[in-house]
Amino acid sequence: MPDIEVEALIEQARQAQARAYAPYSGYRVGAAVLTADGKVFTGCNVENAVYPLGLCAERVAIFKAVSEGYRDFQAIAVVTRNGGSPCGSCRQVMHEFAPEMIVFIADEAGEVRRTTVAELLPDSFGAADLE
Ligand code: THU
Repeated sequence: MPDIEVEALIEQARQAQARAYAPYSGYRVGAAVLTADGKVFTGCNVENAVYPLGLCAERVAIFKAVSEGYRDFQAIAVVTRNGGSPCGSCRQVMHEFAPEMIVFIADEAGEVRRTTVAELLPDSFGAADLE
């Protein structure tokens, strides 16, 4: 992926982070997932007074895309204040649709780490195990 596209994806995740609804944890997360044909869907974490009902930014972005008919993804960018890594549930959802996807993890200072779903979720369980 060209650097300019990576920067643009991270910028979209950063804008989504600003829309996070995180009054309980105070931990704001933004995500932007890039489809195979170049469309971007963003997500932020959305918390709830009933704590377990909250949803992570990555899954909001991916579920938005899937619900609009997009299932092939090439990359996702995640922005937090400290470069926190995606949680296990989000890794599993990423694996469902895009086990080869590139994951960019950025912090608010602009540091970016590049990894993949396969690296984040080794020895995974997936659709093939149910065949
Ligand atoms: N969170 C995410 O949005 N993505 C992750 O991968 C890790 C955690 C959110 C959930 C909750 O709203 C807050 O961060 C603190 O856990």
